[in-house]
Amino acid sequence: MFEGVRKVYRGRDIEVSFDLELCVHVAECLRGHREVFQLNRRPWILPDAAGADEVAEVVRRCPSGALLYHRLDGRPDEDPEGPTQATPIKNGPLLVTGKIEVRREDGTVETLPRATLCRCGQFNHKPFCDNQHLAAGFRAPGVPFRIQLSPIRPQLDQPISKAEDPRGR
Ligand code: FES
Repeated sequence: MFEGVRKVYRGRDIEVSFDLELCVHVAECLRGHREVFQLNRRPWILPDAAGADEVAEVVRRCPSGALLYHRLDGRPDEDPEGPTQATPIKNGPLLVTGKIEVRREDGTVETLPRATLCRCGQFNHKPFCDNQHLAAGFRAPGVPFRIQLSPIRPQLDQPISKAEDPRGR
């Protein structure tokens, strides 16, 4: 059963939170703003290293909902509009956007605006994808993940290794 642990990084105008167990390591945050999101630093998230609007924009690119934000400057928080949508990712998870309520065994409920749900059956963090589909060689039709490849994420099938990710220590 999934038991997420969300860590909070508080800035002056915006608070960013991160749940490593939801992360699918596509590195949108690292590509989005290298001063705010930096793996080899503690804390790895510095919300005040950029304007709150810029930080929020990068957080909204996180497909899994591992990153969320809460505005402290009176501006509105992320509020999913329109119908909930589910999109199968080629050889990977089901990408869901909209208002997603995650109910846990202990009765707590977390509302996410984005989530990546496993469809290969190999997950360790039910029901969320944790990239086990890569090791399993899962093949299924779908749309490609729309991310920008870079030196941080050189190939689609080479996410940042969870074992090497210092945020997990
Ligand atoms: S689809 Fe990613 S772990 Fe199953």
